[in-house]
Amino acid sequence: MRSANPPIWLATGNKQKVDEAKAILEKYGIPVRQLNIVKTEIQSFSLEDVARYASEQISESSKQRLLAVEDSGLFVSSLNGFPGPYSSYVHKTLGVQGVLQLLANQHDRRAVFQCALALSGPGFRTKIFTGTVPGRIASRAEGSSGFGFDPIFIPNGARLTFAESGRDVKNKYSHRALAFRKLAAWYGKRWPSSHLSPNGALK
Ligand code: IMP
Repeated sequence: MRSANPPIWLATGNKQKVDEAKAILEKYGIPVRQLNIVKTEIQSFSLEDVARYASEQISESSKQRLLAVEDSGLFVSSLNGFPGPYSSYVHKTLGVQGVLQLLANQHDRRAVFQCALALSGPGFRTKIFTGTVPGRIASRAEGSSGFGFDPIFIPNGARLTFAESGRDVKNKYSHRALAFRKLAAWYGKRWPSSHLSPNGALK
């Protein structure tokens, strides 16, 4: 039987991104599936362009699905926004310690995480949902939860890194959580039953 609420297929090899998406969207009754597929990442300063291109390209071969691609980056103020769209490469090459070294003796530790989430599917033009979380780079890596730069990112108003505070806290404030909640709001308008509890009340 076809599900009344169609799943969001998240194209990523990163299981932790899928877990974060599930923790957020499944509260709204929106099923999430992982599509583990190699994506084409275009060279662009714009996370939105990167996510949109990959989403539309993958969607070409499975037009009936709701297909989502998200692209995120860490933008450090004192490095003029670096690594930004190159965050994945910088994480693989310099790593968390390399970023800390770039900021050694730097008083301005401000940084933001940004997320662009592209959704393609039948009957609508690709939608982009964005999320930004401002914060600062810690003086050293702390915590073991999450992935990527979580051990060195402290969101504004907090004292702990995302990696120390854990998934539930991260999913309240993160760039990805904000973008996925916007997607949930859009989805709820098209499939209103997704936002209803079994007793018919809004979730
Ligand atoms: P992409 O969206 O997979 O290209 O992510 C780029 C890189 O940014 C990742 O490899 C991570 O290093 C980093 N990144 C993206 N989102 C997060 C996050 O939520 N926490 C920590 N690092 C992240």
